[in-house]
Amino acid sequence: MIPRIGILLILSLYLFAGISSQSNEYDATIRTMEEFSGYQIHEPTFHDSSSSSLSVDTETLQRQIDELSTFSDVPAPAVTRILYSEKDVQARGFVKNLMNISGLSVREDAVGNIFGRWVGSEPELAPVSTGSHIDAIPYSGKYDGVVGVLGAIEAINVLKRSGFKPKRSLEVIMFTSEEPTRFGISCLGSRLLAGSKELAQLLKRTVDGQNISFSDAAKFAGYSNSEDLSSVFLEKGSYSAFIELHIEQGPILEEEAISIGVVTAIAAPASIKVDFEGNGGHAGAVLMPKRNDAGLAAAELALAVEKHVLESGSVDTVGTVGILELHPGAINSIPSKAHLEIDTRDIDEQRRNLVIEKIHQSALSISKARNVELSEFKIVNQDPPALSEELITKATESACQELNMPYKKMISRAYHDSLFMARISPMGMIFIPCYKGYSHKPEEFAAQQDIANGVRVLALTLAKLSIS
Ligand code: GLV
Ligand code: MN
Ligand code: MN
Repeated sequence: MIPRIGILLILSLYLFAGISSQSNEYDATIRTMEEFSGYQIHEPTFHDSSSSSLSVDTETLQRQIDELSTFSDVPAPAVTRILYSEKDVQARGFVKNLMNISGLSVREDAVGNIFGRWVGSEPELAPVSTGSHIDAIPYSGKYDGVVGVLGAIEAINVLKRSGFKPKRSLEVIMFTSEEPTRFGISCLGSRLLAGSKELAQLLKRTVDGQNISFSDAAKFAGYSNSEDLSSVFLEKGSYSAFIELHIEQGPILEEEAISIGVVTAIAAPASIKVDFEGNGGHAGAVLMPKRNDAGLAAAELALAVEKHVLESGSVDTVGTVGILELHPGAINSIPSKAHLEIDTRDIDEQRRNLVIEKIHQSALSISKARNVELSEFKIVNQDPPALSEELITKATESACQELNMPYKKMISRAYHDSLFMARISPMGMIFIPCYKGYSHKPEEFAAQQDIANGVRVLALTLAKLSIS
């Protein structure tokens, strides 16, 4: 039997070990911070990024964001930049150039994910990565994704200027096609990085709206090895951490005047393609009882989507019919074909799946009642939600505290490449406020100061993760 004094001794040694390892970790963080930020932490710090040496070159970053927005198929302030288009190729060149200027070693994979690595002092350790996308849906804005790519390169510059030396390598990733615009599949690059064999197979027979195959489009952009996409897959553990900086795309941070959102989870997205077919005919000559109008079936299904979403009783359930196309598209012709694309999401996966099931039942009953054919009901993706890793949220929270930056934990209702990076790496996200929460429209705007705050928090989080 261990005498009472022995238990106390063991306990106090245990406690001492716990405290000293905590304080070692704490000291290391303080040392790292002080070494490269040039100011003593826990001294009063300033919310304004210009007031410390961990400083962001805000003007240059804004100029880069503005310049990148000119690679667009539509006039400013709107931005349209579609995967593998001429403008996308130019924009990719712009990003690679900035990575080179920052002294990163740049590589691209077969699908066009672009990686810029700052090699750490222990290059055999799994690197810490960060990044986002630069493709832009039709008539959107210039900050979605872009802040997380150009801001990440600037975060590397911030760390370099401060004299910081990473232990783990730091890598900036520009993901290919986070937006589903061209081939109907979201987060194409990050899904493949996360090892989606199904997607690699599917892309062999995928065409865009102009019937251009995925591999021809990729070849146009200079990626000639897209027939075998298995080379894109990364092993789980390839990164010790992945963290994405992004505008919130919602109004909470701005409304509450909070600088930083620390994302704890990403809602589960799904998308569905539906086709109805009827007989069409002359808009004057075919009498109403004789019609089977595919357009009306689509309209009814769009309303059913809204109904089923609202039935969930939760504000977290959302559904959108963002595409509704009628054929032949003439005022005096009854639509003979209707095509819908439905986006539905929830933080609760089961509730989202129930909505999908109800939409399917409605599509079947509408087709029966209207005597139109339901020629396709295809669930394109039905992804689970992703949770951030505490290792990363804690690092971001302490970065915010040390930078005296007000922050709030929140969920992401939009999806991001992080959703898929979470499959192969511990994941986290940093949100910054954006004007009225606007996104996916030209009015999207983030203030320079908010971007600079995000970049500083990202830089410090990367630094912490790279020495752990
Ligand atoms: C990403 O762009 C999304 O639609 O959430
Ligand atoms: Mn987007
Ligand atoms: Mn985005």
